[in-house]
Amino acid sequence: MAPVDPHSYTDGAHPVVSHAALAFYLDFAASTIHASALLTLSAPHSGDLLLDTRALAVHSASTAADPPEPIPFSLAAAPDPVLGSALTLTLPPDTTSFRLTFSTSPAASALQWLAPPQTASGHPFVFSQCQSIHARSIFPCHDTPAARITFSLLLNVPSQLSAVAAAHHVARRDPLPSDDRGACDDELWCAPGRIVEEFQMEQSVPPYLFAFAAGGIGFRDLGPRTRVYAEGGDKVLDEAAREFAGVEEMVKVGESLFGPYEWERFDLLVLPPSFPYGGMENPRMVFLTPTVIKGDAAGAQVVAHELAHSWTGNLITNKTNEDFWLNEGFTTYAERRIVEVVQGEERAALNMGIGWRGLNRMMERFKDNMEFTKLKPKMAGIDPDDVYSEVPYEKGFQFLWRIERQIGRPAFDEFLKKYIATFKFQSIDTETFLEFLKKNVPGIENQIDLQLWVEGTGIPPDAMEPDSATYKKICALAAEFKSGKLPSEDEVADWSGQEWELYLENLPTDVEASQVTALDERYKLSESRDYEVKVAFLQLAIPTGCKCYFNEVEKCLKQVGRMKYLRPLYSSLAKCSSEEKMLAQRIFSEAQEFYHPIARSVAEAILSKHS
Ligand code: BES
Ligand code: ZN
Repeated sequence: MAPVDPHSYTDGAHPVVSHAALAFYLDFAASTIHASALLTLSAPHSGDLLLDTRALAVHSASTAADPPEPIPFSLAAAPDPVLGSALTLTLPPDTTSFRLTFSTSPAASALQWLAPPQTASGHPFVFSQCQSIHARSIFPCHDTPAARITFSLLLNVPSQLSAVAAAHHVARRDPLPSDDRGACDDELWCAPGRIVEEFQMEQSVPPYLFAFAAGGIGFRDLGPRTRVYAEGGDKVLDEAAREFAGVEEMVKVGESLFGPYEWERFDLLVLPPSFPYGGMENPRMVFLTPTVIKGDAAGAQVVAHELAHSWTGNLITNKTNEDFWLNEGFTTYAERRIVEVVQGEERAALNMGIGWRGLNRMMERFKDNMEFTKLKPKMAGIDPDDVYSEVPYEKGFQFLWRIERQIGRPAFDEFLKKYIATFKFQSIDTETFLEFLKKNVPGIENQIDLQLWVEGTGIPPDAMEPDSATYKKICALAAEFKSGKLPSEDEVADWSGQEWELYLENLPTDVEASQVTALDERYKLSESRDYEVKVAFLQLAIPTGCKCYFNEVEKCLKQVGRMKYLRPLYSSLAKCSSEEKMLAQRIFSEAQEFYHPIARSVAEAILSKHS
């Protein structure tokens, strides 16, 4: 056994799956997918082959020959809590492709099934979230970013629904008996009232970028290669189209900075409020939380980030989750370069400032577990969802910004373009990046302590706080809060959500309840429609013991399932007295049905840690 990734059973001594032809029958009543997969290997193979699965029921394995021969298989009886269950197949001599039939569990960790009363359209809705290691709960695969795949996908759904996927949409058409390849009975597949949405992904992607959604979804075109999809009808679509009007221009800015946009289309899908992230860079079809639609700069920032992944993350991919900073650190850097062009230097510096605060807060969070303050942490036995943090984003950003300062922007831009062109459609590790850096920037290792940056804990001494007038002004105002001074109406007159977020996150954490309520009485932050502001405020208010915000905390936890908000709110409550702890337990028990499985288990872990 030659492990390639601590988060996968993939054996590096064997060929990997390079193409998957998938047929999915979506059974909304049972929250289950009945599926078949025709998997093709990168080279012929005989004997044992291991695939990753989680909570899948595997019904059959057979050769791709006509007639098919059964293939012996076994599924590990007791699942590993992080990895799931290895599926071992014993392939006949020189097998290049084989067929599996299987069904997902209603509790599949990648999928959220919403019943009609839980959606804006009154239709059922389902969506996937595969990063980091949840693709294996949808289909058996080599669920490591080291093994890239192309795929075709047939989604059989009720004809009132439409489906989208992170792939080229080939057709919406009637089901054919030859489609299903054993996913389910032909009668079921071809029953009246069913439709097939057909997709094709010809560019190779890591399995965590596999994504689809189905529901009462409509769309608006934004530009020649950009479109926004959402459920909820005309009003939502019009709002979304207004919010994202600048997306085509952003793609052009990205191209000028990082090279050609290789994915043909850049469409956006606005998900129901339970979507567990701000955004997810699924290629051709970025997934977004509806909380980004608020008519200010913040929505554009999330889009800039997911767009930037089209180069850093989707073209060049981290080999394993230990190299996650190659995805998120580069993307945070690239995002800020795009923001600088479309929104100006001050806005970019403000984002850096928010990031700098976040990085410093993470040193506190991980003070007893400094491993996770490293750019390249050891991840064996660790669930990536449990240690998700700003470290790979912001320490990664700082590392690249440090290199930029050393060699100057023109040279760094050239380096970045060459890096992308050299490694596109590959999955690489940190060592490969460092080698490339040293080769292309001779002597860099004598100027920057690369080893300290990559292997060291904490924040290196040559990291830098951003230097901008707005940023400094806000930090100074926050420092005055301790002595009882609130910012004046004049001073906050032109603040948008991000200025407030930075202000609140810079306030001392040991403030009095009376100070917090005075701030709120003046600026109504606890009722802000901007969740970044609202959550930053509530996070400050909870530890003061002030009970007057329990209502807002509860509303917030029940309305939005984005983990960026759930984590700090549940953690703050869980760290307080028994009254807050009980409140957290009660809210969780009432809200958990509404959360995506990933968010549910993260919230559960927080509550059980502090119980
Ligand atoms: N790829 C991430 C989201 C992610 C990371 C999902 C790890 C699962 C595991 C995405 O690009 C991201 O970073 N989203 C941020 C956006 C922000 C940095 C602008 C988010 O969701 O908050
Ligand atoms: Zn990202």
